[in-house]
Amino acid sequence: MNIEEKIKELERRNLEANLGGGQARIDQQHAKGKMTARERIEYLLDKDSFQELDKFVVHRCHDFGMEKKKIPGDGVVTGYGSIDNRKVFLFSQDFTVFGGSLSGPFGEKVCKVMDLALKNGAPFIGLNDSGGARIQEGIVSLGSYGEIFKRNVLASGVVPQISVIMGPCAGGAVYSPALTDFTIMVKNTSNMFITGPQVIKAVTSEEVTPEELGGAMTHNSKSGVAQFAEDSDQDALDRVKVLLGYLPQNYREKTPTVECSDDPGRTDKALNKVVPTNPKKPYDIKEIIQSVLDDNDFFEVQKHFAMNMVTGFGRLNGLAVGIVANQPKVLAGCLDINASMKCARFVRMCDCFNIPLVTFVDVPGFLPGVNQEYGGIIKHGAKIIYAYCEATVPKITVITRKAYGGAYDVMSSKHHGGDINYAYPTAELAVMGPDGAVNIIFKKEIESADDPETTRDRLVEEYRNNFASPFKAAELGYIDQIIFPENTRPRLIQALMMLKDKKDAIPKRKHGNTPL
Ligand code: HXC
Repeated sequence: MNIEEKIKELERRNLEANLGGGQARIDQQHAKGKMTARERIEYLLDKDSFQELDKFVVHRCHDFGMEKKKIPGDGVVTGYGSIDNRKVFLFSQDFTVFGGSLSGPFGEKVCKVMDLALKNGAPFIGLNDSGGARIQEGIVSLGSYGEIFKRNVLASGVVPQISVIMGPCAGGAVYSPALTDFTIMVKNTSNMFITGPQVIKAVTSEEVTPEELGGAMTHNSKSGVAQFAEDSDQDALDRVKVLLGYLPQNYREKTPTVECSDDPGRTDKALNKVVPTNPKKPYDIKEIIQSVLDDNDFFEVQKHFAMNMVTGFGRLNGLAVGIVANQPKVLAGCLDINASMKCARFVRMCDCFNIPLVTFVDVPGFLPGVNQEYGGIIKHGAKIIYAYCEATVPKITVITRKAYGGAYDVMSSKHHGGDINYAYPTAELAVMGPDGAVNIIFKKEIESADDPETTRDRLVEEYRNNFASPFKAAELGYIDQIIFPENTRPRLIQALMMLKDKKDAIPKRKHGNTPL
């Protein structure tokens, strides 16, 4: 072959590899409303930035006639490129090739880019669309999954890892996404389960559709396995781009700062009226969150799960912050098992990646209930304590209203390392709510009174004035400043600017023993 022929040969082979499983299968993929593996990469990355690796890798399987079916790339497209000019490594499973199923060489390709991501300190993104372990390869495929899981674990907290589920993701394959920092699912076309509907029917006689069992909304609202549910492949990929904007390249770096055109001194008089004077009345904590963030832009994470707890990202004076907040509108903002897990995982993720935490507190306590106790609210609530106490990033707290009992301590209190703890004048910091407290400590006095109801009301009012206020805590230094609600944004930014170069450490050890 002369040089022209060799170049033509490369062109021919490139075109062949680009077609994956062939045009008919590409058409089927499109008919399902899905993009192909390559279209997804092209949409996600900056134009012309993708550099593909291992394009001509094929499997080495000789069973079940597989030696006659070899497709270059073997069902996964891997490589690196950039998003908003920031380097990323990624894989994109190609469902048109053996259903995107994972062979030994497929796994080796994925591991190669994971190793590169780790060594080069850049985020790793997995676009999943696969029938799981390649059945013809047997244990080789399982070994490859194991190699990937190990790398997911070793990369955890070193570089951000994001999984997008854009098709099937079944069996043990689900554990790679589960080990990553974020899982984004596409509604109607993606599902995740350990065992599918048929196996479940055979074993437990339960009948369930794949969508009900492991669709995007199931994992976003019921299991909490996923953090985002998107309408289309494009929306899911857009979500990845925005998400990356809040994350650093790796744990040694800070998050990207953006130009801030929103006045850092901007006040908002409407905030003076958001918290109702009646402590039993709910309100939407997101009104406060949106008001204070740059351009009122709040990027909520896991919005369909444990809605009594709000988590997400925003910016203050251009710096990315993680927001954690009790939501008085749902379950009165009580902490239950799911809210505890959601909060703790988000706090730990922020701490891994140097994202300062801003916590808004309005919490009447932990949710009472036999199911909560049997479900282990003790160990799950302990996760919040662990996460905040361990976090060395700047921690700023704003108590808007209730901070009762143990829930006061756990929500980024001074005692758990809160750097700056603010309270609104409407804050009530106490061992428990006035009604409960009076019923216990004045039980005899109320029972023996001529008019028990009036006596009770008077004692509740006295208790509220004396204890259910921010002033006792401020006298003790547990609250650094009682602020006017309208000034929340400037106060948060002042604290953040003061803390932005904070250095802190926890005692050296092999690793802590988080309550799991
Ligand atoms: C080899 C596979 C495959 C697999 C699909 N294909 N899954 N080939 N190994 N795991 C092939 C099909 O044979 C078919 O090839 C093509 O991919 C498309 O599959 P279809 O079934 O035609 O597509 P669809 O109807 O859309 O159904 C998709 C599916 C189904 C739901 C994913 O294929 C399926 O149930 N596959 C098996 C899923 C599974 O049980 N995997 C193992 C999970 S256990 P042709 O040539 O006919 O087009 C696991 C263990 C991991 O993964 C353990 C890690 C520790």
